[in-house]
Amino acid sequence: MATAITTCQLDNYLVHPDDSMDERILAAKAALDAVILGHHYQRDEVIRFADYRGDSYRLSKLASQADAKYIVFCGVHFMAESADVLSRPEQIVVLPDLNAGCSMADMAEITQVEDCWEQLVRMELTSDSGEGITPITYMNSTAAIKAFCGERGGVVCTSSNAPGAFRWAYPKNPKVLFLPDQHLGRNTAYGMGIPLDEMVVWDPYMPVGGTLPERMRAAKVILWKGHCSVHQRFLPEHVEKVRGTYPGIRVIVHPECRWEVCQKADGTGSTDKLIKMVKESPPGSKFAVGTEIHLVNRLGQENPDKMIITLDDSGCLCTTMFRISPQHLCWALENLVEGNVVNQIIVKEDVKHWARVALDRMLEIQ
Ligand code: 13P
Ligand code: SF4
Repeated sequence: MATAITTCQLDNYLVHPDDSMDERILAAKAALDAVILGHHYQRDEVIRFADYRGDSYRLSKLASQADAKYIVFCGVHFMAESADVLSRPEQIVVLPDLNAGCSMADMAEITQVEDCWEQLVRMELTSDSGEGITPITYMNSTAAIKAFCGERGGVVCTSSNAPGAFRWAYPKNPKVLFLPDQHLGRNTAYGMGIPLDEMVVWDPYMPVGGTLPERMRAAKVILWKGHCSVHQRFLPEHVEKVRGTYPGIRVIVHPECRWEVCQKADGTGSTDKLIKMVKESPPGSKFAVGTEIHLVNRLGQENPDKMIITLDDSGCLCTTMFRISPQHLCWALENLVEGNVVNQIIVKEDVKHWARVALDRMLEIQ
Protein backbone atom coordinates (compact mmCIF):
# COMPACT_ATOMS: atom_id res chain seq x y z
CA MET A 1 0.00 0.00 0.00
CA ALA A 2 1.54 3.35 -1.02
CA THR A 3 2.20 5.78 1.81
CA ALA A 4 1.07 9.36 1.27
CA ILE A 5 3.94 11.84 1.27
CA THR A 6 3.06 15.47 1.02
CA THR A 7 6.19 17.20 -0.24
CA CYS A 8 8.86 16.32 -2.76
CA GLN A 9 11.73 16.72 -0.26
CA LEU A 10 14.22 13.87 -0.54
CA ASP A 11 14.33 13.33 3.23
CA ASN A 12 10.66 12.46 3.17
CA TYR A 13 11.36 9.59 0.81
CA LEU A 14 14.44 8.14 2.46
CA VAL A 15 12.55 7.18 5.62
CA HIS A 16 10.33 4.76 3.68
CA PRO A 17 11.16 1.17 2.80
CA ASP A 18 12.23 0.24 -0.75
CA ASP A 19 9.08 -1.64 -1.70
CA SER A 20 6.76 1.20 -0.64
CA MET A 21 7.89 3.15 -3.71
CA ASP A 22 6.81 0.77 -6.47
CA GLU A 23 3.29 2.00 -7.19
CA ARG A 24 4.36 5.61 -6.95
CA ILE A 25 7.26 5.14 -9.32
CA LEU A 26 4.92 3.51 -11.84
CA ALA A 27 2.32 6.26 -11.44
CA ALA A 28 4.86 9.05 -11.82
CA LYS A 29 6.43 7.37 -14.82
CA ALA A 30 3.05 6.98 -16.47
CA ALA A 31 2.43 10.72 -16.06
CA LEU A 32 5.71 11.72 -17.70
CA ASP A 33 7.25 11.79 -21.14
CA ALA A 34 10.32 10.03 -19.76
CA VAL A 35 12.54 7.11 -20.63
CA ILE A 36 14.38 5.31 -17.83
CA LEU A 37 17.74 3.83 -18.78
CA GLY A 38 19.30 1.31 -16.40
CA HIS A 39 22.82 -0.08 -16.22
CA HIS A 40 23.16 -3.80 -15.45
CA TYR A 41 24.83 -3.05 -12.08
CA GLN A 42 21.70 -1.40 -10.73
CA ARG A 43 19.95 -3.26 -7.98
CA ASP A 44 16.79 -5.25 -8.73
CA GLU A 45 14.52 -2.78 -6.90
CA VAL A 46 15.60 -0.12 -9.41
CA ILE A 47 16.40 -1.94 -12.66
CA ARG A 48 12.88 -3.33 -12.87
CA PHE A 49 11.64 0.16 -13.70
CA ALA A 50 14.09 0.66 -16.56
CA ASP A 51 12.59 0.87 -20.04
CA TYR A 52 15.93 -0.29 -21.37
CA ARG A 53 18.88 -2.03 -19.74
CA GLY A 54 22.35 -2.16 -21.16
CA ASP A 55 26.09 -1.85 -20.97
CA SER A 56 27.50 1.62 -21.27
CA TYR A 57 27.80 1.39 -25.09
CA ARG A 58 24.19 0.36 -25.57
CA LEU A 59 22.90 2.97 -23.09
CA SER A 60 24.76 5.79 -24.81
CA LYS A 61 23.35 4.67 -28.16
CA LEU A 62 19.85 4.61 -26.65
CA ALA A 63 20.37 8.09 -25.18
CA SER A 64 21.40 9.38 -28.60
CA GLN A 65 18.19 7.96 -30.13
CA ALA A 66 15.71 8.70 -27.32
CA ASP A 67 12.61 10.75 -28.13
CA ALA A 68 11.40 11.41 -24.58
CA LYS A 69 11.61 14.81 -22.96
CA TYR A 70 13.28 13.36 -19.85
CA ILE A 71 16.05 10.77 -19.83
CA VAL A 72 16.26 9.40 -16.30
CA PHE A 73 19.59 7.62 -15.97
CA CYS A 74 19.87 4.85 -13.41
CA GLY A 75 23.62 4.47 -13.63
CA VAL A 76 26.57 6.64 -12.69
CA HIS A 77 27.57 10.22 -13.37
CA PHE A 78 29.80 9.72 -16.43
CA MET A 79 26.98 7.78 -18.14
CA ALA A 80 24.48 10.57 -17.50
CA GLU A 81 26.98 13.16 -18.74
CA SER A 82 27.40 11.21 -21.96
CA ALA A 83 23.62 11.01 -22.33
CA ASP A 84 23.45 14.80 -21.99
CA VAL A 85 26.13 15.24 -24.63
CA LEU A 86 24.46 12.82 -27.05
CA SER A 87 20.83 13.83 -26.56
CA ARG A 88 19.06 16.77 -28.19
CA PRO A 89 19.39 20.20 -26.53
CA GLU A 90 15.74 20.29 -25.43
CA GLN A 91 15.97 16.92 -23.65
CA ILE A 92 16.71 16.81 -19.93
CA VAL A 93 18.93 14.18 -18.34
CA VAL A 94 18.40 13.37 -14.68
CA LEU A 95 20.61 11.27 -12.39
CA PRO A 96 18.47 10.30 -9.38
CA ASP A 97 21.40 10.61 -6.94
CA LEU A 98 24.25 12.99 -7.75
CA ASN A 99 26.53 10.99 -5.47
CA ALA A 100 26.47 8.11 -7.94
CA GLY A 101 29.95 8.72 -9.31
CA CYS A 102 32.68 6.30 -10.36
CA SER A 103 35.93 6.00 -8.43
CA MET A 104 37.80 5.03 -11.59
CA ALA A 105 36.59 8.10 -13.47
CA ASP A 106 37.79 10.20 -10.50
CA MET A 107 41.32 8.81 -10.96
CA ALA A 108 41.91 11.03 -13.99
CA GLU A 109 41.33 14.72 -13.43
CA ILE A 110 41.45 17.00 -16.41
CA THR A 111 44.30 19.10 -14.96
CA GLN A 112 46.38 15.94 -14.44
CA VAL A 113 45.69 14.79 -18.00
CA GLU A 114 46.60 18.23 -19.39
CA ASP A 115 49.79 18.16 -17.38
CA CYS A 116 50.66 14.67 -18.68
CA TRP A 117 50.04 15.81 -22.25
CA GLU A 118 52.28 18.87 -21.81
CA GLN A 119 55.07 16.58 -20.68
CA LEU A 120 54.52 14.32 -23.68
CA VAL A 121 54.73 17.38 -25.93
CA ARG A 122 57.97 18.44 -24.21
CA MET A 123 59.38 14.95 -24.83
CA GLU A 124 58.45 15.54 -28.50
CA LEU A 125 56.27 12.43 -28.53
CA THR A 126 53.26 14.38 -29.73
CA SER A 127 52.17 17.84 -30.83
CA ASP A 128 49.57 19.84 -28.91
CA SER A 129 46.90 18.69 -31.33
CA GLY A 130 47.86 14.99 -31.24
CA GLU A 131 50.30 14.30 -34.09
CA GLY A 132 52.24 11.45 -32.53
CA ILE A 133 49.83 10.05 -29.91
CA THR A 134 46.11 9.27 -30.18
CA PRO A 135 44.34 9.70 -26.85
CA ILE A 136 41.62 7.14 -26.17
CA THR A 137 39.48 7.50 -23.11
CA TYR A 138 37.32 4.79 -21.65
CA MET A 139 33.71 5.85 -21.29
CA ASN A 140 34.33 5.85 -17.51
CA SER A 141 35.78 9.36 -17.49
CA THR A 142 34.51 12.90 -17.13
CA ALA A 143 33.09 14.82 -20.08
CA ALA A 144 36.10 17.15 -19.84
CA ILE A 145 38.44 14.24 -20.57
CA LYS A 146 36.25 13.04 -23.43
CA ALA A 147 36.46 16.58 -24.85
CA PHE A 148 40.23 16.59 -24.35
CA CYS A 149 40.47 13.43 -26.47
CA GLY A 150 38.05 14.67 -29.11
CA GLU A 151 40.00 17.89 -29.57
CA ARG A 152 43.29 15.99 -30.07
CA GLY A 153 42.01 13.58 -32.71
CA GLY A 154 41.08 10.91 -30.15
CA VAL A 155 38.04 8.89 -29.28
CA VAL A 156 35.96 7.41 -26.47
CA CYS A 157 35.55 3.65 -26.17
CA THR A 158 33.69 1.24 -23.95
CA SER A 159 34.64 -2.26 -22.94
CA SER A 160 32.60 -3.55 -25.89
CA ASN A 161 34.48 -1.66 -28.61
CA ALA A 162 37.94 -1.00 -27.11
CA PRO A 163 39.72 -3.23 -29.70
CA GLY A 164 37.93 -1.30 -32.45
CA ALA A 165 39.11 1.98 -30.92
CA PHE A 166 42.74 0.77 -30.94
CA ARG A 167 42.39 -0.37 -34.56
CA TRP A 168 40.93 3.05 -35.37
CA ALA A 169 43.78 4.84 -33.58
CA TYR A 170 46.91 3.11 -34.87
CA PRO A 171 46.91 4.10 -38.51
CA LYS A 172 46.77 7.72 -37.32
CA ASN A 173 49.69 7.60 -34.88
CA PRO A 174 52.31 5.15 -33.61
CA LYS A 175 51.25 5.56 -29.94
CA VAL A 176 48.06 5.53 -27.86
CA LEU A 177 47.48 7.23 -24.51
CA PHE A 178 44.77 5.18 -22.81
CA LEU A 179 42.74 6.79 -19.99
CA PRO A 180 41.88 6.10 -17.20
CA ASP A 181 41.71 2.28 -16.79
CA GLN A 182 45.13 0.68 -17.08
CA HIS A 183 43.58 -2.80 -17.02
CA LEU A 184 41.17 -2.36 -19.92
CA GLY A 185 43.96 -0.66 -21.86
CA ARG A 186 46.48 -3.42 -21.13
CA ASN A 187 44.03 -6.26 -21.78
CA THR A 188 42.92 -4.74 -25.05
CA ALA A 189 46.38 -3.91 -26.35
CA TYR A 190 47.72 -7.33 -25.37
CA GLY A 191 44.77 -8.99 -27.10
CA MET A 192 45.81 -7.17 -30.26
CA GLY A 193 49.32 -8.55 -30.11
CA ILE A 194 51.13 -5.67 -28.38
CA PRO A 195 53.59 -7.17 -25.87
CA LEU A 196 53.57 -5.99 -22.26
CA ASP A 197 57.06 -4.51 -22.57
CA GLU A 198 55.72 -2.07 -25.17
CA MET A 199 53.30 -0.65 -22.61
CA VAL A 200 54.17 1.86 -19.92
CA VAL A 201 52.10 3.06 -16.96
CA TRP A 202 51.74 6.80 -16.36
CA ASP A 203 51.32 7.61 -12.67
CA PRO A 204 49.94 11.16 -12.41
CA TYR A 205 51.30 11.49 -8.88
CA MET A 206 54.93 10.83 -9.86
CA PRO A 207 57.41 13.09 -11.70
CA VAL A 208 57.47 12.17 -15.42
CA GLY A 209 54.61 9.76 -14.69
CA GLY A 210 56.98 7.57 -12.65
CA THR A 211 58.70 6.31 -15.77
CA LEU A 212 61.70 7.12 -17.93
CA PRO A 213 61.68 9.13 -21.15
CA GLU A 214 63.38 6.17 -22.97
CA ARG A 215 60.56 3.86 -21.87
CA MET A 216 58.03 6.41 -23.08
CA ARG A 217 59.76 6.67 -26.45
CA ALA A 218 59.78 2.89 -26.90
CA ALA A 219 56.19 2.33 -25.76
CA LYS A 220 53.27 1.80 -28.13
CA VAL A 221 50.74 2.28 -25.33
CA ILE A 222 50.82 4.69 -22.40
CA LEU A 223 48.40 3.44 -19.75
CA TRP A 224 46.98 5.87 -17.22
CA LYS A 225 47.31 4.51 -13.69
CA GLY A 226 43.63 4.10 -12.92
CA HIS A 227 41.58 1.06 -11.98
CA CYS A 228 38.17 -0.09 -10.85
CA SER A 229 38.17 -0.98 -7.18
CA VAL A 230 35.37 -3.50 -7.76
CA HIS A 231 37.09 -5.46 -10.55
CA GLN A 232 40.61 -5.17 -9.18
CA ARG A 233 39.60 -7.39 -6.29
CA PHE A 234 39.39 -10.46 -8.50
CA LEU A 235 42.68 -12.36 -8.35
CA PRO A 236 44.25 -15.24 -10.31
CA GLU A 237 43.98 -17.46 -7.24
CA HIS A 238 40.19 -17.05 -7.33
CA VAL A 239 40.21 -18.57 -10.82
CA GLU A 240 42.27 -21.52 -9.61
CA LYS A 241 40.05 -21.97 -6.58
CA VAL A 242 36.74 -22.14 -8.49
CA ARG A 243 38.25 -24.46 -11.09
CA GLY A 244 39.45 -26.76 -8.30
CA THR A 245 36.06 -26.73 -6.58
CA TYR A 246 33.79 -26.97 -9.64
CA PRO A 247 35.38 -29.01 -12.43
CA GLY A 248 34.15 -27.87 -15.86
CA ILE A 249 33.23 -24.38 -14.67
CA ARG A 250 33.82 -21.53 -17.12
CA VAL A 251 35.33 -18.33 -15.78
CA ILE A 252 34.11 -15.17 -17.51
CA VAL A 253 35.23 -11.71 -16.43
CA HIS A 254 34.88 -8.05 -17.26
CA PRO A 255 38.02 -6.62 -18.96
CA GLU A 256 38.43 -4.13 -16.10
CA CYS A 257 39.91 -7.10 -14.22
CA ARG A 258 43.69 -7.39 -14.02
CA TRP A 259 45.61 -8.85 -16.93
CA GLU A 260 46.59 -11.96 -14.91
CA VAL A 261 42.90 -12.71 -14.26
CA CYS A 262 41.81 -12.06 -17.86
CA GLN A 263 44.61 -14.30 -19.12
CA LYS A 264 43.35 -17.18 -16.99
CA ALA A 265 39.67 -16.63 -17.81
CA ASP A 266 37.73 -18.55 -20.46
CA GLY A 267 36.14 -15.37 -21.74
CA THR A 268 36.03 -11.63 -21.19
CA GLY A 269 33.48 -9.03 -22.19
CA SER A 270 31.34 -6.04 -21.39
CA THR A 271 28.34 -6.55 -19.14
CA ASP A 272 26.11 -7.14 -22.19
CA LYS A 273 28.56 -9.71 -23.52
CA LEU A 274 28.83 -11.54 -20.19
CA ILE A 275 25.02 -11.81 -20.12
CA LYS A 276 25.00 -13.12 -23.69
CA MET A 277 27.67 -15.74 -22.93
CA VAL A 278 25.59 -17.12 -20.08
CA LYS A 279 22.28 -16.93 -21.93
CA GLU A 280 23.60 -18.74 -25.00
CA SER A 281 25.21 -21.60 -23.07
CA PRO A 282 23.44 -24.99 -22.81
CA PRO A 283 21.42 -25.92 -19.69
CA GLY A 284 23.61 -27.29 -16.92
CA SER A 285 26.52 -24.93 -17.74
CA LYS A 286 28.54 -23.60 -14.83
CA PHE A 287 29.99 -20.10 -14.69
CA ALA A 288 32.09 -18.12 -12.25
CA VAL A 289 31.59 -14.48 -13.17
CA GLY A 290 34.07 -11.72 -12.34
CA THR A 291 32.00 -8.58 -12.22
CA GLU A 292 29.70 -6.56 -9.97
CA ILE A 293 27.62 -8.67 -7.62
CA HIS A 294 24.14 -7.39 -8.55
CA LEU A 295 24.64 -8.47 -12.12
CA VAL A 296 26.07 -11.84 -11.04
CA ASN A 297 23.09 -12.49 -8.75
CA ARG A 298 20.64 -11.49 -11.48
CA LEU A 299 22.35 -13.84 -13.94
CA GLY A 300 21.71 -16.62 -11.43
CA GLN A 301 18.03 -15.70 -11.05
CA GLU A 302 17.45 -15.36 -14.79
CA ASN A 303 19.23 -18.61 -15.67
CA PRO A 304 17.91 -21.13 -13.14
CA ASP A 305 18.98 -24.04 -15.37
CA LYS A 306 22.66 -23.02 -14.98
CA MET A 307 25.00 -22.65 -12.05
CA ILE A 308 26.22 -19.08 -11.68
CA ILE A 309 28.59 -18.00 -8.92
CA THR A 310 30.69 -14.94 -8.28
CA LEU A 311 34.39 -15.45 -8.96
CA ASP A 312 35.31 -14.07 -5.54
CA ASP A 313 32.84 -15.20 -2.93
CA SER A 314 33.15 -11.99 -0.94
CA GLY A 315 30.99 -10.49 -3.76
CA CYS A 316 32.04 -7.09 -5.00
CA LEU A 317 29.52 -4.29 -4.86
CA CYS A 318 29.79 -1.04 -6.83
CA THR A 319 28.89 1.31 -4.00
CA THR A 320 28.25 4.23 -6.32
CA MET A 321 25.88 2.34 -8.61
CA PHE A 322 24.14 1.27 -5.40
CA ARG A 323 23.47 4.92 -4.54
CA ILE A 324 20.51 4.93 -6.92
CA SER A 325 17.69 3.69 -4.72
CA PRO A 326 13.96 3.34 -5.39
CA GLN A 327 13.50 6.30 -3.05
CA HIS A 328 15.80 8.49 -5.16
CA LEU A 329 14.13 7.34 -8.35
CA CYS A 330 10.67 8.05 -6.95
CA TRP A 331 11.79 11.45 -5.65
CA ALA A 332 13.24 12.43 -9.03
CA LEU A 333 10.18 11.29 -10.99
CA GLU A 334 7.60 12.85 -8.65
CA ASN A 335 9.48 16.13 -8.78
CA LEU A 336 9.36 16.04 -12.56
CA VAL A 337 5.61 15.45 -12.36
CA GLU A 338 5.37 18.52 -10.11
CA GLY A 339 7.35 20.51 -12.65
CA ASN A 340 10.59 20.60 -10.63
CA VAL A 341 13.66 19.34 -12.43
CA VAL A 342 15.99 17.87 -9.83
CA ASN A 343 19.51 16.51 -10.35
CA GLN A 344 19.73 17.59 -13.96
CA ILE A 345 23.09 16.72 -15.53
CA ILE A 346 24.31 19.57 -17.71
CA VAL A 347 27.62 19.41 -19.49
CA LYS A 348 29.03 22.88 -20.17
CA GLU A 349 28.72 24.02 -23.78
CA ASP A 350 32.47 24.44 -24.35
CA VAL A 351 33.08 20.87 -23.18
CA LYS A 352 30.06 19.50 -25.00
CA HIS A 353 31.28 20.16 -28.51
CA TRP A 354 34.51 18.13 -28.36
CA ALA A 355 33.04 15.49 -26.05
CA ARG A 356 30.39 14.94 -28.70
CA VAL A 357 33.01 14.63 -31.41
CA ALA A 358 34.77 11.90 -29.38
CA LEU A 359 31.50 10.14 -28.51
CA ASP A 360 30.20 10.28 -32.08
CA ARG A 361 33.45 8.68 -33.22
CA MET A 362 32.90 5.98 -30.59
CA LEU A 363 29.38 5.25 -31.82
CA GLU A 364 30.79 4.56 -35.27
CA ILE A 365 33.14 1.89 -33.89
CA GLN A 366 31.77 -1.63 -33.27
P1 13P B 1 30.00 -1.95 -19.30
O1 13P B 1 30.18 -0.96 -20.40
O2 13P B 1 30.57 -3.30 -19.64
O3 13P B 1 28.58 -2.03 -18.88
O4 13P B 1 30.88 -1.49 -18.07
C1 13P B 1 30.65 -0.32 -17.36
C2 13P B 1 31.33 -0.34 -16.08
O5 13P B 1 31.40 0.65 -15.40
C3 13P B 1 31.96 -1.56 -15.62
O6 13P B 1 32.52 -1.35 -14.38
FE1 SF4 C 1 33.16 2.68 -11.82
FE2 SF4 C 1 34.00 0.23 -11.15
FE3 SF4 C 1 31.56 1.05 -10.44
FE4 SF4 C 1 32.12 0.49 -13.00
S1 SF4 C 1 32.09 -0.92 -11.28
S2 SF4 C 1 30.98 2.27 -12.23
S3 SF4 C 1 34.25 1.25 -13.11
S4 SF4 C 1 33.54 1.94 -9.74
